[in-house]
Amino acid sequence: MSDLSGRTTIVVGASRGLGHGIATAFAEAGAPVVAVSRTVAAFPEPANGSGTIQPEVVDAGDATVAGSLLDRYEPAAIILVAGASPHMRPLQHQTWETFSVNWQTDVRIAFHWLREALLTPLRPGGKVVVISSGAALAGSPLSGGYAGAKATQRFITGYAQDEAERAGLDITFTAVLPRFAPLTGVGRPAVQAYAARAGLSVEDFLAQQGPLVTPETAGTSLVELVQEDSADIAPAYVLTGAGLQKLP
Ligand SMILES: NC(=O)c1ccc[n+]([C@@H]2O[C@H](COP(=O)([O-])OP(=O)(O)OC[C@H]3O[C@@H](n4cnc5c(N)ncnc54)[C@H](OP(=O)(O)O)[C@@H]3O)[C@@H](O)[C@H]2O)c1
Repeated sequence: MSDLSGRTTIVVGASRGLGHGIATAFAEAGAPVVAVSRTVAAFPEPANGSGTIQPEVVDAGDATVAGSLLDRYEPAAIILVAGASPHMRPLQHQTWETFSVNWQTDVRIAFHWLREALLTPLRPGGKVVVISSGAALAGSPLSGGYAGAKATQRFITGYAQDEAERAGLDITFTAVLPRFAPLTGVGRPAVQAYAARAGLSVEDFLAQQGPLVTPETAGTSLVELVQEDSADIAPAYVLTGAGLQKLP
């Protein structure tokens, strides 16, 4: 387990939801955190001796943002959490625009930040975590192109790892696939839609899901992951409220 003090961590998508919990947890663990989002966020006052949170109000999908923030902050770790909330409708009720929203946001952001992590490149020992989704494994029939977009995020995280190895760069890339987090922007409408489709109340539906992800549990799990030795980090993980499970 490594000490996070002095190890700048950029959390992309930190104003709300899982990203807010992850940014808060890294600061509590002692990291200087750069919290990226398009809107201003409030964070709890860091306790004495813990890390700091520096907000950066920018669009992470802008092609120049990743490169300029990597140059300015020289982070030891990047956590890509930002994503759009899909339009929760069956396929025939999607438009092409609603179907493709997660390609235009989640995949676009991962694409820009992964390539800039390779091109800059991150310093040796650097780590990049991409928050994909459990939907990448199971599909998500009520959210248009969401599951495919999140699967693509996992694929390109693997491509980035291969390119790092080919170039002799000591950078570790991994994807984390959370199950439902029903209190956050993406999770809340998804849970309501799938509960309705199953003919269950939200409460009964959630009771079948096992331990649920929250911003706080996600923060704890991501801090533990980034503290691991690079050699022990798997290509991908499923994240539940009980923690991380390795995927091949
Ligand atoms: N919640 C779940 O059940 C669940 C399950 C599996 C995977 N996930 C994944 O986990 C991630 C977070 O989900 P969530 O439910 O926590 O979402 P959320 O509450 O809606 O928060 C999304 C965050 O992303 C930021 N963001 C979006 N577009 C951005 C952009 N262009 N530039 C900078 N920041 C941007 C938002 O900030 P601004 O609006 O201020 O920019 C916000 O901080 C998503 O990638 C989602 O697909 C969630």
